[in-house]
Amino acid sequence: MKLKSIREVKHLTGKKVLLRVAYDVPLEEKGKSWIVVDDRRIAETLPTIKYLLKKRCRIVIVSWLGRPGGKVIEKYRLDPVAKKLSELLKKPVKKLNDCIGPKIFAEIQALKPGEIIMLENVRFYSAEEENSKMFAGLLAYGFDLIVFDAFAQAHRVHASTTGITKFLPTYAGFLVEKEINSLNQIIKKPKRPLVAIIGGAKISDKVAVLEELVKMADKILIGGGVANIFLKAIGVSVGHSYLQDNFIDQAKRKKVNFVKLARKIYQRHKNKIVLPTDFISANKMDQGALVEMVDAKQNQKINPRFMFLDIGPGTIARYLTEIKKAKTIFWNGPMGVFEINKFAFGTKKIAEAVARSQSVSVLGGGDTESVVKKYNLEGKFSYVSTGGGASLEFLAGRELPALKNIQKAR
Ligand code: 3PG
Repeated sequence: MKLKSIREVKHLTGKKVLLRVAYDVPLEEKGKSWIVVDDRRIAETLPTIKYLLKKRCRIVIVSWLGRPGGKVIEKYRLDPVAKKLSELLKKPVKKLNDCIGPKIFAEIQALKPGEIIMLENVRFYSAEEENSKMFAGLLAYGFDLIVFDAFAQAHRVHASTTGITKFLPTYAGFLVEKEINSLNQIIKKPKRPLVAIIGGAKISDKVAVLEELVKMADKILIGGGVANIFLKAIGVSVGHSYLQDNFIDQAKRKKVNFVKLARKIYQRHKNKIVLPTDFISANKMDQGALVEMVDAKQNQKINPRFMFLDIGPGTIARYLTEIKKAKTIFWNGPMGVFEINKFAFGTKKIAEAVARSQSVSVLGGGDTESVVKKYNLEGKFSYVSTGGGASLEFLAGRELPALKNIQKAR
């Protein structure tokens, strides 16, 4: 895939640029405000921003943060992100409290060469996830071009990802180029066995992509919330376990029955898909919870009021054997609720095993990065993508919808 690059824009100097980034970063409450706890997604866009600044462009930054669901939710405002960007750039970044409308338009018109504005979270409008043409047009209004550097959000069909690219010439930023080149290198001819480890809470995204991933992987080890849906699909009782996430891509996919889909995938690829067979279950998601081990191989059943919150020792041992054999590993998503120490053991063991492995290891996803940070495993993997769902879809061979209009004609 060859993308149109900002390097190729003629007469870029002084242009009004809508810069689409993926600043969906983890925040933490500190006193009365919020701070950015991991700035990697911001730092990785600095080469693009610095390039645009060198060209004296007027830069307007747009992103979403979290899943506010079409409402203004204070903790999802982008102010701490603008503050962090300003610190990293050592330059003022003016944060506006909306992303469309006459006031915003006037601010954009008044921008001087080399100045930066950050718009408010686009997901404060439901029109964003609905991929409204009108909303996309308003976002793109008044700019000369779009620079798309939001690799981590390129798998969504939203107004600010695919929608805006229909209104203006769009070029890839340096982060998008780097991600595509690096991931392409890895999937071109992966060394085998290729083992994918898939967990986490974004169940619908992961199950949907497994249909393709299973064709290229030799083994897929499943954990976290994703495991619950497969277990339900094959008739293992899961009690109160987490099963349904927010279906976020209204425009992209029709409502799918993910239990049915998981059953279909499992039945076709039983030889490749490895499900947990023992579990740590608990009555609540809390360090002080009552805990019970459940071994499905011993015909034990979960207490119907409990939920699965981590994989058990038998499953860990099985997964470590597969990881040891692997020559290429894709890892996306934790095996349990690793944020609570009582349910973190499975994830920790898997993370350490991937870090130890001599394979080509590719990681993606905000939670996976948090695991790496929590256990001080930074620098022990071949490549860590800034995208979770996006890197997984790309590795599985899917076209990322937001990159479609940036491709060069062949
Ligand atoms: C991410 O953090 O992976 C992206 O921002 C996508 O977020 P979403 O799953 O809420 O669309």
